[in-house]
Amino acid sequence: MCGIFGYCGQRRAAPIIIEGLKRLEYRGYDSFGIAVMDQGITVRKKQGKISLGASDLSRVKGKMGIGHTRWATHGEPNNQNAHPHLDCHDSIAVVHNGIIENYAGLKRELQARGHGFRSETDTEVIPHLIEEEFKGDLAAAVSAVLPRLEGSYALLVIATGCGEMVAARKRSPLVIGIGDRACLAASDVTPLLEHTERVIYLEDGDIASLSTGGIEIRHQGTRVKRPVQKIDWSLAEVKKGGFAHYMLKEIYEQPEVFSSTMRALKEEEIPDILQDTGGVTLVACGTSYHAALLCRYLIEEHCGIPARVELASEFKYFTSPGGDLVVGVSQSGETADTLAAMQKARMFSHPTLAVTNVLGSTITRLADHTLFMRAGPEISVAATKSFIAELAVFFHLVDRLAGGALEHSLGRGHLAIGEALLQDLSQAVDLCRNAQSMFFVGRGPFYPLALEGALKMKEITYIHAEGYAAGEIKHGPFALLSPETPVVALCPPGHAFPVMFSNIKEMKARGTPMIVLGVQGTQDLEEISDVFIPLPDGGIISHILASAALVQLLAYHTAVALGRDVDQPRNLAKSVTVE
Ligand code: M6R
Repeated sequence: MCGIFGYCGQRRAAPIIIEGLKRLEYRGYDSFGIAVMDQGITVRKKQGKISLGASDLSRVKGKMGIGHTRWATHGEPNNQNAHPHLDCHDSIAVVHNGIIENYAGLKRELQARGHGFRSETDTEVIPHLIEEEFKGDLAAAVSAVLPRLEGSYALLVIATGCGEMVAARKRSPLVIGIGDRACLAASDVTPLLEHTERVIYLEDGDIASLSTGGIEIRHQGTRVKRPVQKIDWSLAEVKKGGFAHYMLKEIYEQPEVFSSTMRALKEEEIPDILQDTGGVTLVACGTSYHAALLCRYLIEEHCGIPARVELASEFKYFTSPGGDLVVGVSQSGETADTLAAMQKARMFSHPTLAVTNVLGSTITRLADHTLFMRAGPEISVAATKSFIAELAVFFHLVDRLAGGALEHSLGRGHLAIGEALLQDLSQAVDLCRNAQSMFFVGRGPFYPLALEGALKMKEITYIHAEGYAAGEIKHGPFALLSPETPVVALCPPGHAFPVMFSNIKEMKARGTPMIVLGVQGTQDLEEISDVFIPLPDGGIISHILASAALVQLLAYHTAVALGRDVDQPRNLAKSVTVE
């Protein structure tokens, strides 16, 4: 949930750390801080966003340091609770992403032994525990403390008088960058791209010592070698490239993302576990869950395999993990609930498949097989191109398992998205921007798209929006319909069309403003709509892809009209690494 970054090299560390944190800000943005080693440790912390308030921090001297951008879990976002946290003598500094579940007991023990605390965070116990163990060898002290910590962590630690920075991880991501006479560490690869394309993904339980002399990794006391991997994302991909927001850039990248994911998958073998399975259970959160839910309809229709889709956060409460094969879908590959669901599937000895965008992410290490989407780095908190890439992966699998049933439509997918991007949504935005509350409705695969449209709308505009299966609207939500409650109806041609058409008329009869996505000339759909947004001609795949892009754009333009912080909406973070 938070972003951590460390640097150790020949250059002034503070400006490098600040730039690194800016690239990680999408992971958390309520406060930030740095600790830099020179004669002693200098710490600077601030409430608010690093992009707005870090200019004076660059002057701090020293060539090794650590930084943190926070998404608060323990204690409100203020200067005291911002990381780095220190020991009693200000000589050990720690940044942490994750949660120390047993911190309250540890804190009581430490207080009883005379340690003074300055924050309400769980993290602060760590520098105090290290203080008790530290006798000149920082890695040894960290290693003595880690068994006492329950929960999850990615940690960076520095100490006065030590020429090394120590990194450790358990169930939170941490990547080491190998620079030119420099070592770096970060929560993900995006801030490392400016410095290197060579990275090492630490494993759970690894403790790494980073210094200008190199990198030494130990696991359970033994020195280990981890593979050095080459990152194939470019620096240009993590910059805005002339777009007003990352979200808009990422929406516009979707035609290419769809095609490149398809191209890459064509070269790959379908894992045997998929060909032979008698049923699948898909587990995911948020937007990835909606992608999985949508694909269930296609898997069942075209492959004849029963498919179950579960929220990863609920999966642990079921006694049976369901179908033969468990598929975890996660853009980041680091979502705690999805990882927990995959672990549960493994416990029950089910084969597992991961669908993810991030090479080296934790989910790839939990799953028996991984299929990568090729979305490139997604910076905006709102997932857009990763949703399209997830659909691309599933469409491809369905097509291969169903002997090419979708092949023709898939070849045109990028065109459908491209056409959607040309639509003028200003009338629809005018209806939405004044709403307090709204609904998105659809049937079949367009029901998960309604859920996704509502999620996008609420998360970046803060308008209350609910996605509903159109058939459910009459079972309660109808009471909320009024001229002040716009409804976005996804109504492409197909076997659900007649009943959707009736549903739209019923809602319209309550004075509800109707924004309808459909194909021009289908019955008198345009006439019964307040705002009609045309979908391209083509089959269901084109309609799905175009609808996805349109609901994303509708949310985007409404958020811009309302002056919202599109890329970093309030209270959210891109990567949800706590359950
Ligand atoms: O990285 P993941 O795909 O596992 O993330 C799951 C959700 O947190 C994510 O899809 C979230 O719902 C979106 N950022 C919302 O736009």
